[in-house]
Amino acid sequence: MRTVSFPAASKEYDVIIGNGAVSVLGTETKKLCPGALKALIVSETNVAPLYLDKVRGELEKAGIEAFDYVFEAGERSKGIEAVAAMWNKMAEAGFTRTDFVVGLGGGVTTDMAGFAAATFLRGINVIQIPTSLLAMVDASIGGKTGIDIAKGKNQVGAFWQPSVVIEDISFLKTLPDEVFTEGMGEVIKHAFIVDPVLLEKLEKANGNIRDDEELLEDIVSMNVADKASVVKEDENDNGRRQILNYGHTIGHVIERDSGYTKPHGICVAKGMGIMIDACVRAGSLEAGEAERMKAVMKLYNLPASDEITPEEIVSGAMNDKKKRGNNISVILVNKIGKAEIRKMTPEEFMRFLSK
Ligand SMILES: NC(=O)c1ccc[n+]([C@@H]2O[C@H](COP(=O)([O-])OP(=O)(O)OC[C@H]3O[C@@H](n4cnc5c(N)ncnc54)[C@H](O)[C@@H]3O)[C@@H](O)[C@H]2O)c1
Ligand SMILES: [Zn+2]
Repeated sequence: MRTVSFPAASKEYDVIIGNGAVSVLGTETKKLCPGALKALIVSETNVAPLYLDKVRGELEKAGIEAFDYVFEAGERSKGIEAVAAMWNKMAEAGFTRTDFVVGLGGGVTTDMAGFAAATFLRGINVIQIPTSLLAMVDASIGGKTGIDIAKGKNQVGAFWQPSVVIEDISFLKTLPDEVFTEGMGEVIKHAFIVDPVLLEKLEKANGNIRDDEELLEDIVSMNVADKASVVKEDENDNGRRQILNYGHTIGHVIERDSGYTKPHGICVAKGMGIMIDACVRAGSLEAGEAERMKAVMKLYNLPASDEITPEEIVSGAMNDKKKRGNNISVILVNKIGKAEIRKMTPEEFMRFLSK
């Protein structure tokens, strides 16, 4: 078991990672939520049958009365109705400002649990227990919380940092293979943008990391540290944090054009592949580096191309909420481990993609 400190400017907290890490929940609760009497465990229909009782048991051992709200698994539940149900559940149970929320599930769960905590009584503590690889390395850390609305994904939310994040590696055993692969999209992204050592580790493992808990713990920890190093400098996403969007500008367009039927991590991988090709054509990324990047994506079953045209990418990117003004922030990796943000006009981005 190991602890990575997450030094957000607004709040520094621990991310505790390891096999059986959920056993620290009680002691962490006593330390971080003194005076708490009640907790609402937010979970969903795939994860709750597997792990809810364990989490409830840990809380009860610490003298906490545990309530739960279990929603239908999947992105389609990520809306205001579920969050309103959480608010009502807490209000009916007489929650006060010292009580707290526990998010137990993938990114859909941790985003909603975080948002419910950020808003209930103008903000109560949240402890995140991510259960998917993507939630462990990305969604549950960094403090972005939120829900989807009809007009788009993650359009409403708040920055709200958790009190602690507990990442029990053994929970990954039950994750379906394709969901694990999706999470690898974000893992490889971190390797590309800031962490050449992680890339070497992934190459050495030769695609076999699922069954090696020690290696998984290592890889997850490195990813948490990577995201921490980026978020630390720019908690509210005005500058350097944008490098975490590598592959996402294009990935989001592919995802949206598919009516959200294509998985996020797969779309991001395709976006990274398209960016790698474009950088090679522009002469800024060496062919050898590009080959290495694509080889590791293949090793972990991720695609690196898509049929989408430059016209479709640019017009889609112009509608993206993350676009600032008339320029598009394009994230480039011209050397493994070094990402840069370049502002491009739509015309420049089009030329860059279609050279
Ligand atoms: N806040 C952020 O910074 C941030 C970053 C990236 C993504 N996200 C959000 O995260 C969400 C995607 O996260 P996700 O991929 O974890 O989605 P998810 O929560 O839907 O989980 C994916 C699937 O895995 C299942 N699952 C999760 N853990 C399991 C386990 N241990 N055993 C068996 N099944 C399990 C879930 O039931 C679901 O079917 C999106 O809504 C995205 O917007 C947020
Ligand atoms: Zn992503």
